[in-house]
Amino acid sequence: MIGIGIESSCDESGVGIVKNGVEVLAAPLFSQINMHLEYGGVVPEYASRAHLEKFPALVKEALQKASINNQNKPDFIAATIKPGLVGSLLVGYSVALALRDYFSVPLVPVHHLMAHFAAVYLSGQGIEYPALGLLVSGGNTALYRLNTPHETVKIADTCDDAIGEALDKAAIMLGFGYPGGPAIERAAQDFTAWAKKENVRAAQKLLPQILKNTKAGDIRFSFSGLKTSLLYTLKSQRKEKNQNPNESQKMAYAFEYRAVEHILRNVEKALNKTKLKRLIAAGGVMANLSLRRGLEKICTEKGVSFIVPEKKYCTDNGAMVASAGWLALKNGVVAEQNFVTSENDFSFCKFRGS
Ligand code: KG4
Repeated sequence: MIGIGIESSCDESGVGIVKNGVEVLAAPLFSQINMHLEYGGVVPEYASRAHLEKFPALVKEALQKASINNQNKPDFIAATIKPGLVGSLLVGYSVALALRDYFSVPLVPVHHLMAHFAAVYLSGQGIEYPALGLLVSGGNTALYRLNTPHETVKIADTCDDAIGEALDKAAIMLGFGYPGGPAIERAAQDFTAWAKKENVRAAQKLLPQILKNTKAGDIRFSFSGLKTSLLYTLKSQRKEKNQNPNESQKMAYAFEYRAVEHILRNVEKALNKTKLKRLIAAGGVMANLSLRRGLEKICTEKGVSFIVPEKKYCTDNGAMVASAGWLALKNGVVAEQNFVTSENDFSFCKFRGS
C-alpha cells in the first residue's frame, strides 16, 4: 500500500511517499527556516505563501523519485489537518485534495501529533498499545496515554510555553537566532567539551529547578519561569559587562539542563502513576541528544521499552504523515473531521470503523 503524505502545519513543506507505512520511497522537504530567521520566529502569512510556492516542485520531485504516475497510482493521500497554522494547513490540504482528485484515491486527514508518533514506523519500529506518549515540539509539550489507535487521552500539558518555543526564545536572548533548539544543543555541547567537571556542575545550578516542589501526582510542564530567569541572569551579566562568548555557551547549557531535567521528571512521574511499560517519545525536540539519553536511562532503569523516531524524522516531514495515514487505514479508522484547524484536541479521533 503506497501513501502520499502532505505536511504543512508550520514552516516545513513536506511530501512523503511511503510503502506500507514503513518504507520511504521519497521525502522531499523544504524548510523555511532561513526565511523566518530575521523575524526570530515563524511569520504565519509568509509561511502560507512559501508553502504555495514550494509544493508544486516538491510534489513533482516526489512523484518522479517514487515512480508514481497514472499507471502506478498511490493507494491513498494523507494530509495534516490539525493542529497548526491555519493558512499553512489550508495550502497543504488543498494540495492533498488536488492529488486525491487526480489519482481518484481516498484522502485520509491526519492529526499532526499522531503523525509525530507514527514516525517510529519509518525506522522499523511500531506502536504497541497501551503506551505513554511524550510529545515535545515547537507548539506542544504534553503526555498522552495511547490506549488504542482510536483512543488517545491527554495526561499532562504545558501551563505556558512549549519546550521548543522556550528553546527558540532562549536562543534569541543568547544571540543564536532561529530555530533555537539545535543552536542551544550545539552551544551546550561545546561548553561541556571545554569546561572542567566542576564548572559543568556549577552551571547546572545557574538557573532554578522548574516547579521544584510539586508532588508525585502533579504532572505538568512549564517553561516560562525558566525563560524569565535566563532573561534576568543575562541582564545582570550584561550590567557587570560579563559578555565573554563562552558565557553564552554556559548559559545555553544551564537552560538545556533545567529544561531536560523538567521533562525527565514529569515522564518519570507519569510512568510511576500509569504503570505503563512502553514510552513513545516524538516531536522536533526529540532530536536533542541529552533528552534522548535521559529518557533512555529512565526507561532502562524502570524496565520500560523506549521507542523514538530516527533523528531525521523527529522534526516535521511528509513521510510521517503518510505513515499516520497508513496506520489509520490499517486499523479501520475513518476520521470524522475534514476541515483544517489550529486546535490540538483529539475529538478528531472519534473514529468509525473496526
Ligand atoms: O516538531 P517540530 O519540527 O515542529 C512542530 O511541530 O512544532 O519541532 C520544532 C522544534 C523547534 O522549536 C526547534 O527548536 C526544536 O524543535 N528542535 C530542537 C532540536 N531540533 C529541533 N530542540 C532541541 N534540540 C534539537 N536538536
